[in-house]
Amino acid sequence: MAKEIHTIGVLTSGGDAPGMNAAIRAVVRQSIANGRTVKGIKRGYAGLLQEEIEDMEAKHVSDIIQRGGTILQTARCPEFKQPEVQKQAAEICKKHGIDGIIVIGGDGSFQGAQKLANLGINTIGIPGTIDLDIACTEYTIGFDTAVNTAMEAIDKVRDTSTSHERCSIIEVMGRDAGYIALWCGIANGAEDILLPEKYDYDEQKLVNHIINNRKRGKKHHIIVNAEGIGHSASMAKRIEAATGMETRATILGHMQRGGTPTCKDRVYASTMGAMAVDLLCEGKSNRVVAYRHGDFVDYDIDEALAMQKSISEYQYKISQTLSI
Ligand code: ADP
Ligand code: F6P
Repeated sequence: MAKEIHTIGVLTSGGDAPGMNAAIRAVVRQSIANGRTVKGIKRGYAGLLQEEIEDMEAKHVSDIIQRGGTILQTARCPEFKQPEVQKQAAEICKKHGIDGIIVIGGDGSFQGAQKLANLGINTIGIPGTIDLDIACTEYTIGFDTAVNTAMEAIDKVRDTSTSHERCSIIEVMGRDAGYIALWCGIANGAEDILLPEKYDYDEQKLVNHIINNRKRGKKHHIIVNAEGIGHSASMAKRIEAATGMETRATILGHMQRGGTPTCKDRVYASTMGAMAVDLLCEGKSNRVVAYRHGDFVDYDIDEALAMQKSISEYQYKISQTLSI
């Protein structure tokens, strides 16, 4: 028989993402609507181990749906990979009466959730990362806001780049994942996109592309560079020396992780937060909420973590043909 859940814990883990607050609000209010008690766990797994646990009522999540960041704070907690630390965390959950836990974060955070599930705490994951790099889902909380923030910033750089007839290297986030770079590359009409999944470290190809475009009368050359690739500032110096085209590097950095969540991030995060609570109340555990093929669905965490996702070859190809 499915375990009856009385108290639901919620935490955010890994890098923050705009929309996490909307998910927290949904978790708290859907839990209350379902007659459950809810506790907020501060600072991800690190705060769980420190027993930074607080009761949450509907009023504690008022006025947060429109805010970036996470009111629960977030952290990385490398020691959570150790089995004895995971056991300690499960004991802490039991001590505080937490029989179900909702983890909002990326793949790493889901691995932690999976361990807690194996130790008898019912767990549900909600995909929260600006990187969009969770294989089981076509949506992750924060990507939409982050990619729009980056797109608007790149539009601005493009204006000055065109006026000065410069090459601009704009570094966006995504150490291991090129989704922000690919989407911005297409949305901003970049001449080149450097993706961790694709980059072949052939800088001469870039140089030739810039020189050829210059000859054809292009007034700027925008390179959207995913964070994981090289060092944008030194790349700019080398490219300027090799092409004779003035080149500047702009690193967008953490501005992409903050700000007011878009409508999509608020609505999807709210839906996923409520759904995670419903799944726990149905007695489900070791599952992750996802958005796939136009619907909100859930997958077994083990299955979700084993899935693979790759950059669309077609979109990568058209990013090149559309910027000729
Ligand atoms: P994300 O959740 O965005 O992928 P991280 O990879 O930094 O971010 O993971 C967030 C946290 O999840 C880590 O700091 C750690 O506490 C926990 N975590 C990551 N990998 C594991 C693992 N293999 N086992 C248990 N916990 C993990
Ligand atoms: O996972 C989200 C992300 O913003 C990545 O794109 C980036 O590589 C990383 O987090 C940066 O993490 P931090 O600066 O918080 O250590």
